Amino acid sequence: MSITNLLATSNAVRLDGGSLFSRFAGKPNHFLARRMSQTTRRVQACCCHRDTMLKAVMPSTMPETETRSVSYGIEIVSFLKGKSYLVTGATGFLAKVLLEKLLRASTEIGKIFLLMKSKDQESANKKLYDEIISSDLFKLLKQKHGSSYEAFMKSKLIPVMGDIGEDNLGIESEIAAKISDEIDVIISCAGRTTFDDRYDSALNVNALGPGRLLSFGKDCRKLKLFLHLSTAYVTGKKEGTVLETPLCIGENITSDLNIESELKLASEAVRNFHDSEEIKRMSELGIERAQHYGWENAYTFTKAMGESVIHNQRGDLPVVIIRPSIIESSYTEPFPGWLQGIRMTAPFILAYGKDLISDLWADYQSFCDIIPVDMVANAAIAAMAKHGGGNVPGLKVYTLTSSSHANPLRAGEFMDFCYQHLCDSPLTDTKLDLERIKFHSSLEDFTSSVSNKIAKQERETSTGRGEGGGDSHTTLSMKGKRKLNYFVSLARTYQPYTFFQARFDDTNTRSLIQELSMEERKMFEFDCRCIDWEHYIVNVHLPGLKSELFRQRSS
Ligand SMILES: NC(=O)c1ccc[n+]([C@@H]2O[C@H](COP(=O)([O-])OP(=O)(O)OC[C@H]3O[C@@H](n4cnc5c(N)ncnc54)[C@H](OP(=O)(O)O)[C@@H]3O)[C@@H](O)[C@H]2O)c1
Repeated sequence: MSITNLLATSNAVRLDGGSLFSRFAGKPNHFLARRMSQTTRRVQACCCHRDTMLKAVMPSTMPETETRSVSYGIEIVSFLKGKSYLVTGATGFLAKVLLEKLLRASTEIGKIFLLMKSKDQESANKKLYDEIISSDLFKLLKQKHGSSYEAFMKSKLIPVMGDIGEDNLGIESEIAAKISDEIDVIISCAGRTTFDDRYDSALNVNALGPGRLLSFGKDCRKLKLFLHLSTAYVTGKKEGTVLETPLCIGENITSDLNIESELKLASEAVRNFHDSEEIKRMSELGIERAQHYGWENAYTFTKAMGESVIHNQRGDLPVVIIRPSIIESSYTEPFPGWLQGIRMTAPFILAYGKDLISDLWADYQSFCDIIPVDMVANAAIAAMAKHGGGNVPGLKVYTLTSSSHANPLRAGEFMDFCYQHLCDSPLTDTKLDLERIKFHSSLEDFTSSVSNKIAKQERETSTGRGEGGGDSHTTLSMKGKRKLNYFVSLARTYQPYTFFQARFDDTNTRSLIQELSMEERKMFEFDCRCIDWEHYIVNVHLPGLKSELFRQRSS
């Protein structure tokens, strides 16, 4: 498949940000040298081997909970027992891992209603079967339950036709009444995760959807907790420390922002655009409005509005907001390297592995803020158990980012590990002589370097490999220009994250870890300080990415 096709079908801009790559072309590879002494085993203890410049996010005193010893933990497994849930976004990457863990951690869990977009009940049932029950993600449960696996899954998972973009969540009233009678916890995972999404749709789903779900929750007889998935980048363009404080228009978001006015603006705009230009222009409008208010794109901007809506409407309902950075493949559970979709950092890695690009517009020293999906799921479950039991009103934010810790992954390291893996285990049938990634601090340098590479490839293709190497002709074919435009637009989309300056405070998350018993820490691991990055990228994530690529190609 050509790169254009591969990337076009790969949700290339369905990213969640993160500081990935680095500046200064030709900079020596000192990260790799530093890590070479490490073996590829998993580090069990915290790694504090480098000055991480994170003093800004380190509290001057340890949280109170870090100093006391806890033996009983927060009794996560007993919390899960018998509780029923409504989960949105269950066919998505994160919610699937969360579901798997819930079902594995407690076979005595109650019912889990899965709100799914589908045209009728039959297609919702089919979606449950095709995308969840048959997924290899659930293979441990398959092993555990043997021939009764399907019966077990169907007894727990109830597909419900619905849409968080519609009034009353688009759920039939009879079914809505049954759900509201039964559920204890709402897990709000659904969202439109494309960075440059059309503004009207992103507003409807990411800004208003959580409010619709919350108001449904308020009618639920015994609801104990509303847990919402946001993003670490929800605070927009920031420098300094991003705190774990709830977002609220009029408090920490300018009161000039009015969601009603944005909706009106978007719906008026959509009337002016027609046919093929509609999507493009509505996407441009999203970026324009986001940047006007200090966000990078429609995704993070509308997620911020969603948080604010939750904050305003929650009343007495206990609410937890989880803010992960870039979610990538599983670290260990249910097995290492599971992921869904070719997105986040994947389009770059795959293009690099095929020697289609060896340039990045990014800051060499920036943190590549990746967090394995199983850690996000575990943290969400732990937070749920902590806040779901007490009927204590309040809103707690938990940030799940790896750069807040003493063991962050630098962009340079990330690319070095990719280089290491792709040289040993190429993506292509023939072994390519991969160059090390060149980091550019300006878009002009990046564009010129990518353009030269594409021109060189075109010369080689037209004259036979190696024969045209001396020709300095740099005019690109139409296909070459499209490729260049694609990479430039991808680089622009990532830019706010590849040069991300702020640091995340994660005091609440670290306190939560401290409250777990030793047993719970093993069972619900989410301490990113323990991640052995070299092992994770080289032996876990990239092999996982290749499997996903293979799965997508063969399905
Ligand atoms: N992935 C990351 O790196 C990352 C990082 C930080 C935060 N998050 C947040 O975590 C959550 C899950 O992310 P993800 O990566 O798992 O997302 P994902 O794979 O893109 O899945 C999104 C899910 O939301 C569903 N959905 C979209 N619009 C909907 C609507 N109108 N009504 C009902 N369901 C709808 C999708 O259903 P269909 O498949 O049927 O469209 C899908 O199941 C999101 O809220 C995201 O903002 C993700």
